[in-house]
Amino acid sequence: MTVDAPTIVATEDTLSAAMKKGSAVEHEQAEGSTFMSALLDGRMPAAGYVAYLRRLRPIYAALESTAAALADDPIASKVVDPALNRLATIDTDLAHWAPESTDDVLDSPAAAEYTARVNASAEWPGAFVAHHYTRYLGDLSGGQAIGRILDRNFELDGAGIAFYAFDEVGKVKPYKDAYRDQLDKIGETLTADERARLVDEVKVAFRLNQALFAELSQLFPS
Ligand code: HEM
Repeated sequence: MTVDAPTIVATEDTLSAAMKKGSAVEHEQAEGSTFMSALLDGRMPAAGYVAYLRRLRPIYAALESTAAALADDPIASKVVDPALNRLATIDTDLAHWAPESTDDVLDSPAAAEYTARVNASAEWPGAFVAHHYTRYLGDLSGGQAIGRILDRNFELDGAGIAFYAFDEVGKVKPYKDAYRDQLDKIGETLTADERARLVDEVKVAFRLNQALFAELSQLFPS
């Protein structure tokens, strides 16, 4: 994976602001990706969504096993929260969408690369926090709208979208605010170089998501 020149993080920014600003372009690209557009416009077949869920599975397995391994780490523990765990909800949704095919071997270079990067983030909790933020805060943000749109497009009546329901999190807005406060506390413990490295890892995480979407739109041209 190519990485651009290191991000210049304005020292007056809190870490949460630096992460959001530092990935704003990547976020826009993810929103505008062919796969996401097709999914949200109702042009993606159900098989395309199943393929997405199947790719998310190893990625969240890696996020959640790394979270467990880093549960006592002073940095990672500020954001790790089992209430966020998505692996069981992915399995619930896969059982709904594709009950017959869950044992197939997954052939996805994009998911394999993303999973490897998350596993490698165990070596530095700052990198892990970058991956944690990119997926879970995304799921608690745009993800909430995506779940509602899927429900409507596929006429699901609430079935098969457990992934977007954070039953144990409570109200999403205060949770996200508290999460950002924790990021800012982490930021206060890092050097400027470490903060820049963490923001760069957020960009890497977004690009890995983009690669996943690119793989899916090749498999399911819409
Ligand atoms: C069509 C797809 C998407 C839409 C419509 C969308 C929409 C949004 C919106 C409206 C917010 C702001 C919510 C708020 O401030 O409370 C947000 C935040 C966020 N999104 Fe997305 N998003 C999409 C895709 C993605 C993807 C693919 C990722 C990464 C995997 C992602 C990661 C994030 C993150 C990390 C935030 C939190 C930003 C922050 O406050 O620091 N989003 N998204």
